[in-house]
Amino acid sequence: VSVCAIRVEVASPYVVDVGPGALDSLDEVAGPFSTRAVLTDTRVEALHGARLGALAAAPRLALEPGESAKDLRGLGRVLDFLAGAGLDRSSLLVTLGGGVISDLGGLAASLYLRGIAVVHAPTTLLAQVDAAVGGKTAINLRAGKNLAGAFHAPRAVLADTRVLATLDDLEFRSGLGEVLKTALLDGEDALARLERAAAGLLARDAELLGEVVAACVTLKARVVAGDERERGARRALNLGHTFAHAVEHVAGYGRIPHGLAVAAGLACALELSRRAGRLRDPHLGARVARLLEALGLPRGLDDLRAAFATGLPAADLRAAMDADKKGRAGRPRFVLVAAAGEPLLDVEADETTLRELLA
Ligand SMILES: NC(=O)c1ccc[n+]([C@@H]2O[C@H](COP(=O)([O-])OP(=O)(O)OC[C@H]3O[C@@H](n4cnc5c(N)ncnc54)[C@H](O)[C@@H]3O)[C@@H](O)[C@H]2O)c1
Repeated sequence: VSVCAIRVEVASPYVVDVGPGALDSLDEVAGPFSTRAVLTDTRVEALHGARLGALAAAPRLALEPGESAKDLRGLGRVLDFLAGAGLDRSSLLVTLGGGVISDLGGLAASLYLRGIAVVHAPTTLLAQVDAAVGGKTAINLRAGKNLAGAFHAPRAVLADTRVLATLDDLEFRSGLGEVLKTALLDGEDALARLERAAAGLLARDAELLGEVVAACVTLKARVVAGDERERGARRALNLGHTFAHAVEHVAGYGRIPHGLAVAAGLACALELSRRAGRLRDPHLGARVARLLEALGLPRGLDDLRAAFATGLPAADLRAAMDADKKGRAGRPRFVLVAAAGEPLLDVEADETTLRELLA
C-alpha cells in the first residue's frame, strides 16, 4: 500500500495525497512558506500531534473537539490566533483534524488578510473523502448549518489513512455515510465495489480503506474540477444533505454525526425519488438499504430517532429546510436519483409527499 497523488484541476490546481504515510511530506509541503501555524482540536492533538514533524514547533491552536467550534465565536478565535501568531500574506495555515477543523480553518484562511494559504491534513474518514477536498468552507449560524462560508482552495491535502485507526466507531461509520453517497453518485461500478468491500471496510482493512478514500477523492476531484463554484453539476454532492442539514439543525449541532445524518438523508432522498416517480432503477432502493445496514448506518429517520433518542419532529425538520441555502426561500430543493451515477438536480418536492416522508 502506498501513497497516491490525485490532482484537482480547479483554477488553482492542487494535489491530494492519499494513503499510509501521506503526512510524512508535510515538512516538504510547508517548507516554502515563511511563517506557519497549525489549527487542530485537542483530541487530535493528543493522538496525532507527533505527526506534525517540524511543524510541531509552529504556533498552534487546539480547539475543543466537536461541531460547536464551527461558529462565529470559533471563527473569531482562529482569526485572532492567526494575527497573534504574526502570520503575513505569504504564511501558511495547516489544519490537522476532521471536517470541523478544515471548514473552520479554511474559512479563517480565506478571510485573514483577504486570504492566506491553507493545507489540510484531514484526520477523519469523513474529512478525507469529502470535507477537506474541494475548497468549500463554512461555519454554522443559529439559523442553519454552513450558512456562512467561502470558496478557498487548499494548496495541498494530505490524507494519511494511518490516522484513521484511532477513530471511534461512531465517527468511522459517519465517514462511511459520505462514502456511500459518493459511490451512489459515481455509478454502478463504484456501488458494486462498495457492496463487495462493505465487510472489510467496517473491519478497517488498511488496503481497502486506502482504495476507498482514493476512489472518493477521485470522484470528488472530477466533479469539483467541472464546477468549482457549484453553479451546476457540483450540486450533486449535496445528495441527502437537505435532509441531513435539517436533522443536524433540529437535533442540535454536534448531537448526530454529520455522516450518519447524511446516511439517513440518502435513504430519504431515494424514497422521495421513488414517490416522485423519478427513480428509474427499481432495485436501487433495496440495494442502498442493504448497504446502509452492512455499513452499520441508519436506514432512515426512524433509525436515527431510536439511536440518538431524539424526536426529530417532522414539522421541525420541514421548518429547518426553509433555511437551507440550496433552495429559494420556503421551497427546499433536493438532489434525487434516477439510478446509480444519475443524480437529478434542483428538484422541488411535493409538499404532502415531503411531510409524509419526514414523519
Ligand atoms: N466543506 C465540505 O465540503 C464539507 C463536506 C462534508 C462535511 N463537511 C463538514 O464536516 C464536518 C464534519 O466533519 P467530521 O465528521 O470530520 O467532524 P469533526 O471534525 O468534528 O471530527 C469528529 C470527531 O472525531 C475526532 N477525531 C478527528 N480525527 C480523529 C482521529 N484520527 N482519531 C480519533 N478521533 C479523531 C474529533 O476530535 C471529533 O471529536 C461537518 O461540520 C460538516 O458540515 C464539510
